[in-house]
Amino acid sequence: MSDSPTAPFLAACRRQPVDHTPVWFMRQAGRALPEYWATRAPGSILDTIIQPDLAAEITLQPIRRYGVDAAILFSDIVVPIWATGFGVDIVPGRGPVVEEPVRSAADLDRLRSLDPEGDTGFVLETVRILKRELPASVPLIGFAGAPFTVSSYLVEGGPSRDFLKVKTLMHTDPATWERLVEHLAQLAIDSVTSQIAAGVDAVQLFDSWAGALSPADYERFALPATKRVLDAVSALGVPSILFGVGTGELLGLMSSAGPDVVGVDWRVPLDVARARVGGNRAVQGNLDPAACFAPFDVVAEQTRAVLECAGTEPGHIFNLGHGVLPETDPGILGAVVELVHAEGRAGVGA
Ligand code: CP3
Repeated sequence: MSDSPTAPFLAACRRQPVDHTPVWFMRQAGRALPEYWATRAPGSILDTIIQPDLAAEITLQPIRRYGVDAAILFSDIVVPIWATGFGVDIVPGRGPVVEEPVRSAADLDRLRSLDPEGDTGFVLETVRILKRELPASVPLIGFAGAPFTVSSYLVEGGPSRDFLKVKTLMHTDPATWERLVEHLAQLAIDSVTSQIAAGVDAVQLFDSWAGALSPADYERFALPATKRVLDAVSALGVPSILFGVGTGELLGLMSSAGPDVVGVDWRVPLDVARARVGGNRAVQGNLDPAACFAPFDVVAEQTRAVLECAGTEPGHIFNLGHGVLPETDPGILGAVVELVHAEGRAGVGA
């Protein structure tokens, strides 16, 4: 079955009772696993993403290893823009790097729209393989980058600390900014719509770097395009998750963009986050990924603190506050999954 309503992950997205608290980890498919390195093709990660058999295998590895409650498609947020021929590569240890960044209105002429099957057929084939391989109790999460976060790579030319160029563009040339994020919203909509048609059960929108914006700037420059993408997902009847890092002051606005679930980093306790996002949204998070490097009794204590703050109301998906760090001991993550399954209380037995 492609979307079992009983899968704990999907039930928690919809704030329904669960028999155990579901857990998955952002970046669970990847660098912490030796089997990832054995499977991954040499070179850019894009060379692996375009091979559906390899991408599907890498997606399944953390399911086998950790017993998590959801799979996340092995791909990257820059895949749609890359697939439309905009020069971008993913440099190991660094991240997405853009040959000729967007700096003015003229650069927008180099953007073109996505033909999901023609440009990203490999992603859709990966989804189809996974829907055959995954048990119904383990839904498949598809994803896209939110317009602001993807634009940050396109305008900065690569990863950035201060986001100076992207902020300068939005403040000095708001018309060009708006055209850029509207284009990126449409790209995300076309990508996730095709992923949903191919079988993904939920969609996470990664606005990883939204926390760089003030609430007023987030509301004006990022939220409208983000909301468009979430509206499109929700019109297709699939639950959505909106996640960003350092977004404590943005949680209420992110909630107003309309996701079913708001992803929270480790800086905001989940009881505080629940109050900020409101009672009509689930929350996802939020163990500090760096806490996984402590001895397990400390990790267990921190895991229990997250579960405690999540409370007993339905609507908690356990996750890290950001992605798995590459040097993480996979054994620790497996033990966290067991602990969450044994002790998670949000919506359990409700
Ligand atoms: O397990 C999963 O979460 C699924 C796969 C996934 C990847 N990237 C694979 C990947 C997902 C969901 C992403 C999303 C993504 N990509 C985000 C949002 C998540 C977040 O971390 O906030 C962002 C910001 C990117 C852009 C990106 N791609 C960065 C910053 C990097 C890291 C560069 C590095 O090597 O440190 C990448 C590369 C990347 N994407 C890797 C993986 C497994 C590591 C690459 C490798 O094997 O070379």
